[in-house]
Amino acid sequence: MWFPLGLLWLLALMQYLHLAIGYELDPLDRYSISNVSQRVAYKMMQYYPGNQTGQAPGIFGEPIFWWQSGAVFGGLIDYWYYTGDAGYNNATTEAILFQVGDDRNFMPQNQSHSMGNDDQCFWALTAMSAAEKVFPDPPPDQPQWVALVQAVFNSQVVRWNMENCGGGLNWQVFKFNEGYEYKNTISNGCFFQIAARLARYTGNDTYAVWAEKAWDWVEAVRLINTTTWEVFDGHQTKTNCSKTRQGLDDKRWTYNHGILLAGAAYLYNYSKGADKWKNRINGLLQASDFFFQPPGGPADTMFEAMCEPWRTCNYDQRSFKAYFSRFLALTVNLAPFTAKHIMPKLRNSAIAAAKHCANGDDGNNCGMQWTLNGQWDGMYGVGEQLSALETIQNCLIGGMPSPATQKDRGTSKGDANAGDARKTRGKRTKVTTPQKVGAALATIIIVIIVVCVSAWVAMP
Ligand SMILES: *[C@@H]1O[C@H](CO)[C@@H](O)[C@H](O)[C@H]1NC(C)=O
Ligand SMILES: *[C@@H]1O[C@H](CO)[C@@H](O)[C@H](O)[C@H]1NC(C)=O
Ligand SMILES: *[C@@H]1O[C@H](CO)[C@@H](O)[C@H](O)[C@H]1NC(C)=O
Ligand SMILES: *[C@@H]1O[C@H](CO)[C@@H](O)[C@H](O)[C@H]1NC(C)=O
Ligand SMILES: *[C@@H]1O[C@H](CO)[C@@H](O)[C@H](O)[C@H]1NC(C)=O
Ligand SMILES: *[C@@H]1O[C@H](CO)[C@@H](O)[C@H](O)[C@H]1NC(C)=O
Ligand SMILES: *[C@@H]1O[C@H](CO)[C@@H](O)[C@H](O)[C@H]1NC(C)=O
Repeated sequence: MWFPLGLLWLLALMQYLHLAIGYELDPLDRYSISNVSQRVAYKMMQYYPGNQTGQAPGIFGEPIFWWQSGAVFGGLIDYWYYTGDAGYNNATTEAILFQVGDDRNFMPQNQSHSMGNDDQCFWALTAMSAAEKVFPDPPPDQPQWVALVQAVFNSQVVRWNMENCGGGLNWQVFKFNEGYEYKNTISNGCFFQIAARLARYTGNDTYAVWAEKAWDWVEAVRLINTTTWEVFDGHQTKTNCSKTRQGLDDKRWTYNHGILLAGAAYLYNYSKGADKWKNRINGLLQASDFFFQPPGGPADTMFEAMCEPWRTCNYDQRSFKAYFSRFLALTVNLAPFTAKHIMPKLRNSAIAAAKHCANGDDGNNCGMQWTLNGQWDGMYGVGEQLSALETIQNCLIGGMPSPATQKDRGTSKGDANAGDARKTRGKRTKVTTPQKVGAALATIIIVIIVVCVSAWVAMP
């Protein structure tokens, strides 16, 4: 009898010393993956206020930005697809449909104060995934999954901006928002990816032409270095995306590599195996190895190289590994020759993630760093849960069918003219003079208050 008692004692001691025991994951076992995924997803949704009375569906609220909320529901569509657990399906449908906005293109008025092309596009990725995975369609009087993605495509294609840098999408949609004068990889990479996916789903080549154009632009302004295949974050537009690297943000994020990689895999599939896309996939894969080599840490374990080692990742960045894992799995599915490169890394990262997911008072919080041999870094939240969830559940990609298309298993109805781009542009891109005066007044008042308060505090 002493053995179980001793074991219990040891477990208690480990808890006390914050040596989390973690979840043990067998990444080759469907049951094990579903089991751990279920717990991680459950904890993630405990942060969700959107299903409570008086709260807006689809929004996690501070400090989680709107785009990340959209990404969570994409993660839950995958969760249902992989595990068969439909427990969050209704909440997911409700959330997506609540956030489509007046023009049914994921531009709800509430979000215009910081609407980025990437933000809008991340919700489109969620809708696209619903179509491709044949997630239950909304009632016929509601917007349909593919039509929502087409609406986002239609509203972004008219924003292609030749004023500088030879094209590209600005980060922000509206000129009055900070960040408009920045053209970044994630906005253009996401546009590239939805265009590639629409081409494959609908068979309409117009989307593929735009996908090519977006890729070519990202390459032309050297946000991809086609020698090293590193992918950088973006350019300030005032330098016209100059070759001097002035105004270039050369930080490398997992999700930027991933969004281009998966988009390339869709076009590889759409083009029936074109060498051009195969080479690009291979290049990006090789550059992505960087995110599996934590300095001094265990090999083949995913980490967010630009912030994780210093524990400086913000709330957005804490979720990036989720999309990277999701995109890696899509790549395996559409370009199967990548499986032997990707799967060992994904599985190893999933084991490591699960090991860091039994923390906190309820023993169910994931940490951010998966490289600490089970030790908890004290980080927790929606981003940490989502990153672990997607990394773990995507280990089930092997043997899954390819994404559905209009001709093959798909049920979602498209609409090539969805989203009234003309109306959206006319209505919201103009900042009227009263608004400008209002903003200026507000700034002056805030400055006065700050000065007065500082003076008051500084008084002896
Ligand atoms: C998950 O695994 C744990 C431990 O093996 C087990 O106790 C639990 O019942 C499993 N949960 C489900 C839903 O199968
Ligand atoms: C909202 O969802 C959470 C997590 O799924 C659940 O625990 C809670 O009961 C739900 N609340 C309502 C009002 O449905
Ligand atoms: C927009 O914000 C208002 C006020 O907070 C809220 O009632 C409404 O549900 C929100 N709409 C969306 C689409 O989030
Ligand atoms: C989801 O909604 C459908 C239709 O409204 C309903 O029949 C079903 O019980 C709901 N499922 C859950 C888990 O709430
Ligand atoms: C800006 O760069 C584009 C190509 O990237 C070039 O075609 C254009 O002439 C440049 N404009 C200026 C003002 O230098
Ligand atoms: C790509 O990276 C290599 C190695 O760092 C560098 O020599 C080259 O100039 C870069 N190419 C571009 C177009 O920036
Ligand atoms: C293909 O997509 C383009 C761009 O949205 C659209 O203008 C065109 O009508 C579509 N063609 C067909 C046959 O649906």
